[in-house]
Amino acid sequence: MLEALCIVLAYVLGSVPWGLVIAKTCCGVDPRRDGSHNTGATNVARLCGFGWGVATLACDVLKGALPVWLALDVNPAPLFVSAVALACVLGHIFSCFMKFRGGKAVATSIGVFLPLAFWPLLGASLLCVLVIWRGGYVSLGSLVLVTALPLGLCLTGQWDWLPLALCIWALVLWKHRENIARLRAGTEKTWRKGKE
Ligand code: G3P
Repeated sequence: MLEALCIVLAYVLGSVPWGLVIAKTCCGVDPRRDGSHNTGATNVARLCGFGWGVATLACDVLKGALPVWLALDVNPAPLFVSAVALACVLGHIFSCFMKFRGGKAVATSIGVFLPLAFWPLLGASLLCVLVIWRGGYVSLGSLVLVTALPLGLCLTGQWDWLPLALCIWALVLWKHRENIARLRAGTEKTWRKGKE
């Protein structure tokens, strides 16, 4: 019963669209209508400035980490913890507060892995930062991050979290299908500009 409650709570927490809340209340912009139309940190940074983007990133990471920390306390069984983590990520993608639409789940995925696999996550995040720093494409960095994460889990032998990482990889790839098409066409937007 407590386990089921945790999964529902994780979904509801994951559903909170922090990017939309921050962009609307702090700079009067609806990120669903401007920029890439995404409610994530990248689009908030693009539309409202770097600081609000970082605030969105922090809130989305936290909302991923909190239910996983709680789950580890309730029952550390990998299957249960993975279900909680996945519920949170699915909440972000199919938010009950946004008619079951949502974001691309990169920051929330970072959050859920923070308590589970710190070193593989750190390695994947550093690679992501390097890619963004070199090219300015957060989408490309995000794709590198979610691809490097399961590889990092294999390298460090953290097999318990591999199914979760692979599910997240597939979801994030699917949510980035338009970014991937733009990257291939050379029309992808950087985090700085609406169009480049
Ligand atoms: O985390 C989302 C990022 O990978 C891409 O965002 O707004 O450029 O589609 P955006």
